Amino acid sequence: MENLKGKRIILGITGSIAAYKAAIIVRLLIKAGAEVQVVMTPAGKEFITPVTLSSLTGKPVVSEFFTANDGTWHSHVDLGLWADAMLIAPATASTIGKMANGIADNMLITCYLSCKAPVFVAPAMDLDMFAHPSTQRNIALLLSYGNHIIEPAVGELASHLHGKGRMEEPEIIVKSLNDYFKRQESFSKKKILITAGPTYEKIDPVRFIGNYSSGKMGFALAEACAQRGAEVVLITGPVSLKTDNPRIHRIDVESAQEMHDAAISVFESVDAAILCAAVADYRPENCAEQKMKRESVGDFTLSLVRNKDIAAALGQKKRSQQILVGFALESHSGLEQALNKMQRKKLDFIVLNSLQDEGAGFKVDTNKVTILEKNGKQTEYDLKSKKEVAADILDCLAGYLL
Ligand code: CTP
Repeated sequence: MENLKGKRIILGITGSIAAYKAAIIVRLLIKAGAEVQVVMTPAGKEFITPVTLSSLTGKPVVSEFFTANDGTWHSHVDLGLWADAMLIAPATASTIGKMANGIADNMLITCYLSCKAPVFVAPAMDLDMFAHPSTQRNIALLLSYGNHIIEPAVGELASHLHGKGRMEEPEIIVKSLNDYFKRQESFSKKKILITAGPTYEKIDPVRFIGNYSSGKMGFALAEACAQRGAEVVLITGPVSLKTDNPRIHRIDVESAQEMHDAAISVFESVDAAILCAAVADYRPENCAEQKMKRESVGDFTLSLVRNKDIAAALGQKKRSQQILVGFALESHSGLEQALNKMQRKKLDFIVLNSLQDEGAGFKVDTNKVTILEKNGKQTEYDLKSKKEVAADILDCLAGYLL
C-alpha cells in the first residue's frame, strides 16, 4: 500500500449497516500512511459513533455545516480542495442519488460537489435496491462524471437475503485507492505522443481520399493520459472533436506526410507513443493544382503511391526505454495480422479491434478490443465505452512505463 503514503483522504460515511466497517477502512488507510478526514451524514452517525472515528483518525469528525455551540463554520470548499481523494464507503442508494443529482442537503454532498480530487464510491445496500433502475441510472451518472465505483460484492445481506449489494471488503476498497495512485504515479512526469483521426490525401483542391475514423478513441486516450498527469502531444487528422485539457498540446494535420513529420519531430522527447490514427495507406501520386473538371478530364485512373508508415518509422528510431503502442483494425484473421504488425513495427503491444464485432471500430462510442503484448500475453476485453477502453489500454501501458 506504499502509494497511499502522505495522501489526504476524505472518507464519507453514510447510513448503512456496513458503516461499522468504515473503522477498518480508516485503520488501513492510516496504517498505509494516509491522512484521513471523516465526513458523516446524520444517518451515518446512527450506525457508528464519531468518537470511534475521530479516535482512529486523530481529527474531529465533520458532519454539520456549523458547530452548534460556537457557530464555527466547517468549510466543505476547503475540505474539497485539501483532499487527494474522496472515498464514500459505505454509500447508500440515497447518497448515490443525491450525488448524481446534486442534492446538497448535507455536509457530505457539499464536500463531494466541491471536491476536485478523484472520488471513489463503494455502494452498500440490499440486492433489489442495488438492481433498481433508479440506482443503476444514478451509478451510471456518477461514472459519467468520472467517479470510480467500487462494485459491491455478492453475499449475505443485512436483510438475510443473498445477492449483490454487500459493500466490498475494506482491504479491497483500500487497495483500489492504492492502485489508483500507483497508476497515476506511473503517468506523472511522462510525455506521451498520440496520433488520432483519419488523414486526408488530396486529389485536387476540393477532393481527397479519407476514411471513416472519427478520432474518438485517440481523443479518449489523450484525455485519459492527461487526467493521469501525463503531458500529451496529440497529433490529429481532420476531426470535429474539441480538446480543452491544458495538459494536451494539440497539433492539427491533414495528410499522412504531415502527421509523419510532426510525429518524427516530437518522438525524441516522449516516453511513449500510442498510434491510434487511421493513416491513409496511399495518396494520389499527383495532386491536381486546380479543380478537376468532369467535362475536360472525362474518365481517368488515379495513380496511388504508398504513404510512409509512421508506426514503423518510430519503431526504427525507438530507444530501448521508449514504449510504442499500435492499433489494428482487422476484418479477418485478426490475431495473426495484429501479431504480424506488432513485430513488423517493433511495437510493445498492439490493440486489436475487429470489424466483425458489433460496436467496435470507427464512428461508434464503444469498442471491443484484445491487447496483444510482445511477451505473448493476450487479454480480451468486453464491449465498453471508448473512455473505459482507454483506461484499460493505459492500465496496460502503466506496466511498461518506468
Ligand atoms: N500506422 C501508421 N502509419 C501508417 C499506417 C499505419 O502509423 N502509414 C499505424 C496505425 O496508426 C496503427 C498501426 O500502424 O497503430 C496499424 O495500422 P493498420 O492500418 O492496421 O496497418 P497497416 O500497416 O497499414 O496494414 P494494413 O495493410 O492492414 O492497412
